[in-house]
Amino acid sequence: MLKTEIDKGGPEGAIEVCRDKAPAMAKAASEETGWAIRRVSLKNRNPKAVPDAWERAALEDFDRRAAAGETAMTLEKAEVVSENGKQVRRYMRALPTQELCMNCHGPVDKMTPAVIAKLKALYPEDRGTGYAVGQIRGAMTIRKAM
Ligand code: HEC
Repeated sequence: MLKTEIDKGGPEGAIEVCRDKAPAMAKAASEETGWAIRRVSLKNRNPKAVPDAWERAALEDFDRRAAAGETAMTLEKAEVVSENGKQVRRYMRALPTQELCMNCHGPVDKMTPAVIAKLKALYPEDRGTGYAVGQIRGAMTIRKAM
């Protein structure tokens, strides 16, 4: 979907896919499956995409494993954790950057002025730039009480 929208309206036109469609798709999948689904990052763009302690530890572990040569695309973590006396299933999967992602998450001096302006307007506290291809941009994180 991202690629189609970039081809149609340039990267600045595709920002809505990430802003509206991705969260909407996550919400629909949550309702369908009963799993809470969201995306998080150690350098988040959406102010709400802040990892909790478990997610932060997993993201840091993904970064270490990728640096040690593991394939970023398949990095994942699954665990049953106890939270306030309840058992919760948790799962996370890394989202590494590809060439396509550089349009909006790469070094700022490589991004178009239209993208920079739009991101600045929508995300004044954006930390999600400066990535290189193959780095871990963040993760998909899902959870469900048992
Ligand atoms: C057209 C611009 C654009 C492209 C291309 C793009 N993103 Fe994003 N990305 C965004 C925007 C905007 C957000 C904030 C979405 C929101 O408000 O929840 C975002 C958020 C994210 C997040 C959630 C965490 C955070 O920082 O808010 C992850 C993870 C992410 N992007 C990964 C990727 C990956 C991986 C790719 C390439 C496959 C990619 N993005 C391509 C614009 C883009």
